[in-house]
Amino acid sequence: MEFSIKGGDLSQLKTDCVIVGVYASGDSRKLSKAAQVLDKAAKGALAAAAGNGDLSGKAGSTLMLQSVPGVAAQRVLLVSCGPEKDYGNKVFSNALTSAFKALKSTAATDVVVPLETSFSASDLIWKVEQTACLAIAGAYRFTQLKSKVDDKHVGKAVTFHLDGKADEKALKAAIKRGEAIGEGMSLTKTLGNLPPNIATPSYLASTAKELAKAYKFKCTVLEKKDMEKLGMNTLLSVSKASYQPPKFIILEHKGGKKSAAPVVLVGKGITFDTGGISLKPSAEMDEMKYDMQGAGSMLGVMKTVGMMKLPLNVVMLVPTCENMPGGNASRPGDIVKSMAGHTVEILNTDAEGRLILCDALTYAERFKPAAVVDAATLTGAMVIALGHVTTGVFANDDKLAQELVGAGQVANDAAWQLPMGPEYDEGLKSNFADIPNIGAGRAGGSITAACFLGRFTKSYKWAHLDIAGTAWKSGADKGATGRPVPLLANFLFKRAGIL
Ligand code: BES
Ligand code: MN
Ligand code: ZN
Repeated sequence: MEFSIKGGDLSQLKTDCVIVGVYASGDSRKLSKAAQVLDKAAKGALAAAAGNGDLSGKAGSTLMLQSVPGVAAQRVLLVSCGPEKDYGNKVFSNALTSAFKALKSTAATDVVVPLETSFSASDLIWKVEQTACLAIAGAYRFTQLKSKVDDKHVGKAVTFHLDGKADEKALKAAIKRGEAIGEGMSLTKTLGNLPPNIATPSYLASTAKELAKAYKFKCTVLEKKDMEKLGMNTLLSVSKASYQPPKFIILEHKGGKKSAAPVVLVGKGITFDTGGISLKPSAEMDEMKYDMQGAGSMLGVMKTVGMMKLPLNVVMLVPTCENMPGGNASRPGDIVKSMAGHTVEILNTDAEGRLILCDALTYAERFKPAAVVDAATLTGAMVIALGHVTTGVFANDDKLAQELVGAGQVANDAAWQLPMGPEYDEGLKSNFADIPNIGAGRAGGSITAACFLGRFTKSYKWAHLDIAGTAWKSGADKGATGRPVPLLANFLFKRAGIL
């Protein structure tokens, strides 16, 4: 996607489509500044169209106008921004998302997004970053496995139109950040959308190798025999019945000072979760191909890190395998010894994410991390607790948790901290081993899972993102969302001091 910045008379800009906002004031509509400029050139045509009842006042509603007289753009897309008093960053993002969605069914390939310079400088910068990211997200398609693609729209270019003076250097940097996040999200989505017979552990490893080549990361892939030597037995217990070899992927980006402690990112990479012997019901089991989206989002955000040449040391760890049933599968009741030395009683083979993560979290110790953040589609209980809107954050350090929640707020990628603590941890009791892999009951299941991981993260600051509800959408719009790449990117940008 090409991005540029222009000034001058908005009504005379040649483009496939110019997107302008319209506020709701009761039953009538109020044109935004940019819409007013076009309306003047069009001798009231915009106001008439916005007021004829076709454009709902609900934020995100759209109305496409063709060949507006006096306006050089082929199309004008009116987007409702709701009441002006409620207008803020969140409404801006959501309205623009709807606008790019509306463009999908058209042949428009280049668009103009007007921005008001009367907003604060930081606000303008944020809007430009968001727009660049949303434009890429809006143009994303997963068509590589369709034999025929009947699709006219290809997002090619976005021009920002400024109605006054602005710090162009800062805006260009914002475009670069937005692009890097958008491209990271696209990679994450594609890895998630690819079917489980293609997106295998080996496929994730080759994706990591490609990233390493493109962005000069160090890449190490541990094989089964390496993991055996390290004693990663809980990880290996999950992959036992699969014909796909497990992989442990390590990417290292050395963008910071040599001596600076790295941020370590850990992503759950179950490329298909059948539940194992504790088999899942077959309805919607296909969606368990997304059970590698912790890994997918870490690979995606590493792309962002690479594109940005981020001045920060970042390490990515991805334990990846398949959870299959079979004659050689782990049984409920099996006891295995983790890399950290704790014996774990596998009471439910469907609670496999924590089994692969705990060995990865132990491996993380050797990097003497400044902080460790893991992302995992860990529990169905997370979907019950926060739905598909908000990612759950758990941590052994409240400051780190709030840093992530704050990053999510800025990035319009919502996250919320949930409690941990001894009252919850007590639920993890085994009669036969040091720790069971599930709690006694279903209550607070996401917290129990986090507490399990917490047993392995005592030596560093750690936070866990349960993305079971937010990493993908079911239903008609089924597909990976690219979350929590925006949150993670923002977190890393702040840590790197570039925001
Ligand atoms: N991958 C699932 C969690 C999941 C479920 C993600 C639904 C998204 C949607 C995970 O491995 C799992 O199966 N967890 C179990 C844990 C239980 C056995 C304690 C669950 O949530 O049911
Ligand atoms: Mn499972
Ligand atoms: Zn799983």
